[in-house]
Amino acid sequence: MLLKCLYTFCFKMNLQFTMLLALCLITLPTGAEETNVNPGINKYYHDAEFQRWVSVFERPGREVYDKRHTIVSALALKPGMTVADIGAGTGFYTHLFATKVGASGKVYAVDISENFIENILRTAKKQGLNNIEGIVNNPKSINLTPDSIDLAFICDTYHHFEYPQTMLTSIHQSLRPGGRLVIIDFRKQAGLSTGWVMSHVRANEETVIKEVEKAGFRLTSQSDLLHRNYFLSFIKSGN
Ligand SMILES: C[S@@+](CC[C@H](N)C(=O)[O-])C[C@H]1O[C@@H](n2cnc3c(N)ncnc32)[C@H](O)[C@@H]1O
Repeated sequence: MLLKCLYTFCFKMNLQFTMLLALCLITLPTGAEETNVNPGINKYYHDAEFQRWVSVFERPGREVYDKRHTIVSALALKPGMTVADIGAGTGFYTHLFATKVGASGKVYAVDISENFIENILRTAKKQGLNNIEGIVNNPKSINLTPDSIDLAFICDTYHHFEYPQTMLTSIHQSLRPGGRLVIIDFRKQAGLSTGWVMSHVRANEETVIKEVEKAGFRLTSQSDLLHRNYFLSFIKSGN
């Protein structure tokens, strides 16, 4: 009906060209949606049984748990900073960050699992930490306001992103100008990595750097602090 009216109007006005243009605008796609690169990878977290995952994520022998204090020191957090722990899991990083940024700072614990977030807040309360806000996000957005964080921290989670480019765009928007993004994830190298890593982890370090730079970040350091994991720091560039 709308098209018919438009056609009649344009025909009467002898504006065939305008009609053609209007039709193009109506029918053109508004921008391609990113396809899910990892369907099902997060299925075990949806109804996550908290204590079970504490025994997985906070077990001695897991490099990012054993080296947690070294990693936190390397981030050089200062009182008053705002940090987002994206894919916070059981929250051991969230809690350490909250202590470092102090009462004048803030930590957002961001996770797609509601149960993880509820438990992070419960355990934070027990520890007397009042500067943590829980965010149950969706797989395409961190659900934070633009220009609101100084550091986005992603540990063992980038390879769980189902929509990595869309998530990176959301993270980019939420970082303040000059804000930092740190990604720690498994090295995927034949001969060094386990068979589980080779099949479970989607992208290697080089690919991740390319994806992140494409989203408007600049690589500032590639630390060799860890053995089984890489440690990448980026700065928000562009707007
Ligand atoms: C392997 S766990 C790592 C948890 C924690 N960072 C650690 O190192 O112990 C991955 C976490 O990422 C979460 N996750 C997956 N996709 C996510 C997304 N798009 N946004 C936020 N969290 C996500 C999962 O629910 C899970 O808690």
